[in-house]
Amino acid sequence: MLKLFCIFRKYQIMQRNTKVVKTILSIDTSCDDTSAAVTYGRKVLSNVISSQVELHAEWGGVVPGLAKQEHEKRIDSVLDRALKDAGLGYEDIDAFAVTQGPGLAIALEVGVKKAKELALKYNKPLIPVNHMEGHLFSSLAIPEGDEENKIIELEEIFPALGVLISGGHTILLVANGVGEYKILGETLDDAIGESFDKVAKILDLGYPGGPIVSKFAEEGNTDKYALPVSMKNSDDFNVSYSGLKTAVLYLVRDLLGQDRKGRGESMKIGKGHSWKPGMEIPQSQDDIDDNPVSEVLGNQTTADICASFQNAAIETLLNKAKKALNKFEVKSILLGGGVVNNTLIRKRFKDIGKSRGVRVLTPQKGNLFMDNAAMIGVAAYLGVGTDKVAILDTQEQIEQLDRDPGLCF
Ligand code: KG4
Ligand code: ZN
Repeated sequence: MLKLFCIFRKYQIMQRNTKVVKTILSIDTSCDDTSAAVTYGRKVLSNVISSQVELHAEWGGVVPGLAKQEHEKRIDSVLDRALKDAGLGYEDIDAFAVTQGPGLAIALEVGVKKAKELALKYNKPLIPVNHMEGHLFSSLAIPEGDEENKIIELEEIFPALGVLISGGHTILLVANGVGEYKILGETLDDAIGESFDKVAKILDLGYPGGPIVSKFAEEGNTDKYALPVSMKNSDDFNVSYSGLKTAVLYLVRDLLGQDRKGRGESMKIGKGHSWKPGMEIPQSQDDIDDNPVSEVLGNQTTADICASFQNAAIETLLNKAKKALNKFEVKSILLGGGVVNNTLIRKRFKDIGKSRGVRVLTPQKGNLFMDNAAMIGVAAYLGVGTDKVAILDTQEQIEQLDRDPGLCF
């Protein structure tokens, strides 16, 4: 009898795995954004992101304990909104997907726990997804209202050069298909987004650094300060950003007439202030808390530093991307991660694509650039049907799923 039941259960699971999994409710709590989304294939039906950036900005960076607490507070209402925006209920969902890693362990835990709970409650499969695979495929997500946009078929995309640039990662890879990746190079130290964040810290511009540094850079002269383009002549595809950050630190200390060494990384003239996305660049002494470095240097010098830094940071990445294009024949470049918000990076890659006859794909909507659950749903969907993705279907499999903060490709 038991044997018969086991055969029946196995058959049920096989049926479910081969069943078309298209409508996916996904969760991402890898860092400081609580996100849930409903996707149908590559179409995004909803993508709700509850950003904690303002809370963390007060501390100058992401505080893991605070992120966990906020994820726990927000996850249920974010899930409700994702379903409501999609006009669906739990019964309409084919499967759940969740970011398993990489990310902050205690933040990931919140999403994984919730996804397991839901999968068991509603008796649906659960698909664990690599957050970076989500970023890789974020440009393949079709935002709502954009359905008329031609869906570029996968045969026209692969092989692709993946350029994943975020606050935690800088990865160049060749994707021969979904789940078939060859990592070409990574950062040896700081990620590119992290270098923007650190330069913003040096200049007392607050957190996150990318948006404000690139905004200042628009008004600056790229050639004003000679900053190093790291690993230009190395034969590999790795990059490094910590030397560039130190060069900016020394430049700023020189400009302020300070000793280069001996004070750690922070400039801290006054207590500094927090810049938040959406705020104007401070123009007068009244707009700032104390004596931020950027105010002491003046807006033009700050803009010149930002422009020179941004140029060197982008060149570092482009050199290696061009080298990869020389070596590997690809049909497209897939750009993903928060740093793709940077207009100049997008433009420089589009230029390269044009000159090399390679299609450059970037996420099609603002909320697909940042950490979001829709990209996790799309990655899960693309993975289904390959043997590269795990579709957890039994109670035991689901219960055993654990977050993996150091998950690699
Ligand atoms: O992918 P993401 O939202 O989070 C993870 O790190 O996973 O990326 C956040 C990073 C931050 O380092 C932020 O400073 C950077 O993306 N960023 C930018 C810009 N907007 C955000 N970097 C450069 N230019 C930007 N406009
Ligand atoms: Zn990310």
